[in-house]
Amino acid sequence: MSIQSQNGRSLTVEGLRVCYGALVALDGVSFTVRPGEILGIIGPNGAGKSTCYNATTHMVGREGRVFIDDEDVTEVPAHKLAGMGLRRAFQQNTFFSDISVLGNMIAVIQHDYGSSLGQTIFRPLHSARRAAEARDAARAALIRMGVPENYHDSYPTQIPYGTQRSLSIALANATGAGILLLDEPAAGLGGEDMQKLVALMKSLRDDGVALVVIEHHMDLIMSVTDQIVVLDQGRMIASGTPSEIRNSPEVLEAYLGRSE
Ligand SMILES: Nc1ncnc2c1ncn2[C@@H]1O[C@H](COP(=O)(O)OP(=O)(O)OP(=O)(O)O)[C@@H](O)[C@H]1O
Ligand SMILES: [Mg+2]
Repeated sequence: MSIQSQNGRSLTVEGLRVCYGALVALDGVSFTVRPGEILGIIGPNGAGKSTCYNATTHMVGREGRVFIDDEDVTEVPAHKLAGMGLRRAFQQNTFFSDISVLGNMIAVIQHDYGSSLGQTIFRPLHSARRAAEARDAARAALIRMGVPENYHDSYPTQIPYGTQRSLSIALANATGAGILLLDEPAAGLGGEDMQKLVALMKSLRDDGVALVVIEHHMDLIMSVTDQIVVLDQGRMIASGTPSEIRNSPEVLEAYLGRSE
């Protein structure tokens, strides 16, 4: 059985609002990202960027609406959104540190390849074949996302930091997300790893993934995105193409002017 990737989805959020007690962490945030597009989200520390992902993926209570294509998924619980192709990589590396790199990927995709208890007992060959298929698919998914085979049997913390960041993105993408939300994927990366990341994002985009990227690295954001949303204190103070954002007085004043 081949597992279909879910490319070709668009994401729309409308009027997202999140309050943490008295703090309005996000207010009036709306955007659409289409298949084969990269949308950047920028803003100073505490602007509400990660909260925007929490709201989109229903990890916090929020007001507003979320659509995958034309389907209103506002009330769909977080764990089901991943199955609908909306996947997220977190700001910090997130993996099981006591199982191998390959084991981490198998854990993520085994839902797609899993066998029921009945099949394991009554059709053991079938189950063994499914396990082998899952292992092959996991290897392919890792290699595709820049995690070379010589690291697959290592623990995640044993591999170079740049490859750990790739692993985080690989685990989020799994066998192929339709919509992928990346939270500061370039954090801590040096020049060569940064170039690899840019190449990876472009290749996902070219495959038809709708990508949303939170980043502080302005060069990266300006060079890969099709549109940019600027947040400041939870509000969307600007949105537009990279050149529109670069020349926006509000953005220069509120964000780029500050020494971040
Ligand atoms: N679980 C929470 N409970 C209370 N306040 C929170 C919570 N999560 C975030 N906040 C607050 O909401 C605001 C937005 O935080 P958020 O993490 O979304 O910012 P960010 O733009 O991702 O910042 P950074 O660039 O530092 O990652 C901040 O004032 C933060 O302190
Ligand atoms: Mg954040």
